[in-house]
Amino acid sequence: MDKRFSAKKILVAGGTGGLGRAVSLAFLEAGATVIVTYRSQAEFDALKSSAGANAAQLEGHIVNVLDEAALKTFVSGLIAKQGRLDALVNAVGGYSAGAPLWEMDAKTLEQMLSLNLYAGYWLARVVVPIMLKQGSGAIVNVAATAAFNHMASASEYVASKAAAAAMMNSLAADLKGSGVRANSILPSIIDTAANRQAMPNADHAKWPKPEEIARVILFLCSEDAKLVHGAAIPV
Ligand SMILES: NC(=O)c1ccc[n+]([C@@H]2O[C@H](COP(=O)([O-])OP(=O)(O)OC[C@H]3O[C@@H](n4cnc5c(N)ncnc54)[C@H](OP(=O)(O)O)[C@@H]3O)[C@@H](O)[C@H]2O)c1
Repeated sequence: MDKRFSAKKILVAGGTGGLGRAVSLAFLEAGATVIVTYRSQAEFDALKSSAGANAAQLEGHIVNVLDEAALKTFVSGLIAKQGRLDALVNAVGGYSAGAPLWEMDAKTLEQMLSLNLYAGYWLARVVVPIMLKQGSGAIVNVAATAAFNHMASASEYVASKAAAAAMMNSLAADLKGSGVRANSILPSIIDTAANRQAMPNADHAKWPKPEEIARVILFLCSEDAKLVHGAAIPV
């Protein structure tokens, strides 16, 4: 059995979402203690019941990751209890597309920047100083292929994902040589329940599964990836 994350403490922001849930379950399966942030109690309860015997190693907290003060309180409580933080996976994010820039509601830009850029920004600001003190840690921010593949009718989404990938790259430069690694992953479409509902006629068999992407994220957080830093990996 793969227990390469035994005794490791992993924070999965958005850890009950379509991808986050698979990431949380994979870390639990690999022996980690997993702390998730969530917003919907029903989603956390579902995650807990899917975790089965590993549920004892799962903790959940309702936290708005866009609220810096709430995030600071949450992370200092986490450190007080767990003693350390080995990895942060940010799976908070959102999607918007379907109209050219001049027709989209202007509020969309703010929403996309909040979910896809600011969430990772606030998380990194709170978590990096802790990891620097430890001299170790791994951060994986979930962006999207849209960060580099700038398709039409998605200006706000594309801009927010491009900014997130650029931010992580610069953060990686800040962290060079510190023992703390920062990488992005770039999914295209993922086989989630929400996507199946939105695109019932697509060939779902061709879509990458959240569990497959979770394996890449676990790799990036593992010792095997200790040379991987500042990467943006399409999945
Ligand atoms: N699904 C895809 O096809 C796809 C493709 C490319 C990239 N991605 C990226 O992959 C990541 C995960 O996507 P997903 O499909 O798993 O999305 P998802 O199912 O919507 O999961 C996102 C999670 O983040 C939570 N969240 C949202 N705002 C939050 C906040 N302010 N504070 C705390 N939690 C918050 C959501 O909670 P609520 O459910 O309560 O809102 C949800 O649990 C995102 O960055 C997304 O852009 C996804």
